[in-house]
This record gives sequence, C-alpha cells and structure tokens, in this order.
Amino acid sequence: MRKPIIAGNWKMNKTVAESRELVTALLPKVKNAKCDVVVCVPFTDIAAVAELTKGSCVAVGAQNVAWADSGAFTAEISAAMLKEAGATYVIIGHSERRQYFGETDKTVNMRLVQALANGLKPILCVGEMLAEREGGKTEEVCRTQVVGAFEGISAADAAKTVIAYEPVWAIGTGKTATDAQANETIGYIRSVVKELYGAAVADGMRIQYGGSMNAKNVDGLMAQPEIDGGLIGGASLKADDFAYIVNAAE
Ligand code: 13P
Repeated sequence: MRKPIIAGNWKMNKTVAESRELVTALLPKVKNAKCDVVVCVPFTDIAAVAELTKGSCVAVGAQNVAWADSGAFTAEISAAMLKEAGATYVIIGHSERRQYFGETDKTVNMRLVQALANGLKPILCVGEMLAEREGGKTEEVCRTQVVGAFEGISAADAAKTVIAYEPVWAIGTGKTATDAQANETIGYIRSVVKELYGAAVADGMRIQYGGSMNAKNVDGLMAQPEIDGGLIGGASLKADDFAYIVNAAE
C-alpha cells in the first residue's frame, strides 16, 4: 500500500506575509489528513512557513535545489541552505524550469543526486508537451526523462523519490488529463521504474498526477489505482481548495 502524497506547488506566488496568511488558514483544515501533505513554497517563504507548520502534518518543500554544495553559482540555493531554512522536500525538473530556464535531463539528474545525497525528499517532475502527446510520443518522452533523471542513482536512493507526472498541456490551462489518461501514463512510468530498479521499488514508488488538479476532479483521479496523489499549482493557493484535495486523498 502506498500512502498518498498531496503537494502544493505555489510557484512564484506569495510574499512572506501572504504565505503566513495562507498557511494559518490551511492548518486547521488539514489537521486530520490521512495522506502526506507538503507545500512547496518560494525560497523566501521557507523559513516562515517551516516555523508555522512545526509540529503539524504539513511538511515544507522548495521548488529547486543547486547541484553543488556551495560556490560561485549566482542565484542558486544549496541543499544545506534549504534544510537549515526548514525544507524537507524539493521539486526537481518542473516543466516550467525545463521550458523557461534551460533545465535538461542532465541538470535534473545532477540536482536529484544532490537532493538525495543531502537527505532532501525529491519530487521529480516529468511530462510531455501537447505536440508530443498528439504525435504519440508521450511514453517515449516520459521514458527519456525518467531514465535521464535516475542515471547513476542507486535503487535505495531511487526508492526515496516521488515522481510527479505533469503533462505540460494540462498545467495552468484548466485542461486535465482524463482519469484514464493519467492512470495509463503513470502506469507506464511505473513500468519504466520497474525496468530500472525492479518490482519492489516500482510498486513502492509514489507517483503523483499534476496539471489543473482541483476540488472537482480530485476524486476521479485519486480513485485510479496508479495515481498516488497530486502536485497542485493554482488550487494550492487557496486554503479551502487545497484542504479539500488533501482531505479527499486517503
Ligand atoms: P496547475 O495545478 O496550476 O495546473 O499546476 C500544476 C503544476 O504545475 C504543479 O507543479
């Protein structure tokens, strides 16, 4: 049995003051959560949100991590910095990083290695663009991204990773993959993990769906056998909506 994990990806939203407001509203609404709950917040919010969520069921994540320990890497944030600020999770390889900031399977792999070496729990994002889905390339794209991300990573480390399947065409568009599409592709991703690491790691790995997941479609998605949770963008910015999704995941 895999414990579901619901994570919010706030992206570039919420100042420190706004983050306190949102988390203060959220905490009482999710206190009986039966799944793992994470909020992945902007770097500048991590310390404040970690302070507020201390002792609660809500863990704090970052949205990226540097591949190096320290040094001349302007604007990067190291794993040690994230941990000291209070993050325990980190999103790696989000499609927005891949599309707008030159993230590649190689840099995703380097960041994943670094997160695991430092005891941060990675949420690795993979997913195809619209033209790739329409061109019948969904499986090929997901395979390449998963194989590239895990290069050189041991089975024991891979087992600590959460994967988020986020079809790019469903992100922020209000268009969700159908329950069946999401289930099928996540099942395929699990089969790739099985090829790489064997059945035990594949069966234990939590794979989320992400892309316009909301209070209206969460029940259908979470009822799918392969879907172990969600990575939520827009709907994670509203306490009621995010709490509804969390409480729907058992
Ligand atoms: P939306 O839920 O806003 O579509 O964003 C999904 C996402 O990219 C989460 O990482």
